[in-house]
Amino acid sequence: MTGLFTVTVHTSADEERFSAVQEIVRGLTSEPKTLSPKFLYHEEGSDLFDEITRLEEYYPTRIERSLLERFGAGIVHDVWPHEIVELGPGNSAKSGTLLSPALQAGVLKRYIPFDISESAVREGAQALFDVYPDLGEIAAVVGDFERHLSAIPSPEGTRLVAFLGSTIGNLHPDERSRFLKEVRRLMPRTDDALLMGVDLVKETSIIEAAYNDAKGVTALFNLNSLKAVNDLLDTNIDTSLFRHCALFDTGHSRIEMHLEAEADVVFALPGSGDIVRIRAGETIWTESSYKFTRDDFAAELNDAGFGSVRWFTDPDEMFSLVVARP
Ligand code: AVJ
Repeated sequence: MTGLFTVTVHTSADEERFSAVQEIVRGLTSEPKTLSPKFLYHEEGSDLFDEITRLEEYYPTRIERSLLERFGAGIVHDVWPHEIVELGPGNSAKSGTLLSPALQAGVLKRYIPFDISESAVREGAQALFDVYPDLGEIAAVVGDFERHLSAIPSPEGTRLVAFLGSTIGNLHPDERSRFLKEVRRLMPRTDDALLMGVDLVKETSIIEAAYNDAKGVTALFNLNSLKAVNDLLDTNIDTSLFRHCALFDTGHSRIEMHLEAEADVVFALPGSGDIVRIRAGETIWTESSYKFTRDDFAAELNDAGFGSVRWFTDPDEMFSLVVARP
């Protein structure tokens, strides 16, 4: 490695496991039954998601990548950032479209990847130093973006915060508002900027196809969250009793993924011994992925304290990058 590398860990594997168990129990004993979307990425889940991003039907990743290739350098030149904070970059494999123009311009001093996976940021840092020997410093923060954002070091110059992949769409409106306000607090200067990837409202059939692919990869991805339950709770739920379903709810402007029980499913929770009953036809709600109109999303950004909002969209208006400034 050439540059300076630090990792601040704000959550331990033990702590995550403890809060995950509590969260699962709460979700499976509430009405409707829910499971946090983070369990979709349990073990093989991350590879299944990678496979989803390469599916013909799954347009978000492909279009976002082409928007970044087309507009990324221009956005970076416009912001002229001394540091880039990236929320949820994983191993930063896609971060080059932002880092590269910032380094070429000779302005970037520091890259701050914030991710839940310590192994991913470590692996990513090594790879980035290999490809970008001019990168002076990587200050990684390991944590949960809904709990540990305040652990991000204070700014040392103009800051670009990137939150890509339309992950913002996994948050419900109240969570989104809280999150955007917290991100706004990470950006004290008027020339700081927030760059997000946002999936846009479109014809229902296109959205539903993206979450019901012909190869059934999304179904496996969804079912994999039950394996997270079995591993973390030490239960033995038979995943073959569940069916993947994904439907767009126009009223809430979100695609919902559920696992529908095809027979009555009964199991005991460890510790308390409480019995969970899932009736045939009942579902576990595993993810919501909100789709936005520009006007609605701009209004949410304004509410969170962002005054200026710019959009970079593909010709079919499927997906958008949005740059928001205080
Ligand atoms: C990674 C949250 C953006 O909501 O489209 C892919 C996850 N779920 N297929 C999305 C996902 C089903 C994805 N995000």
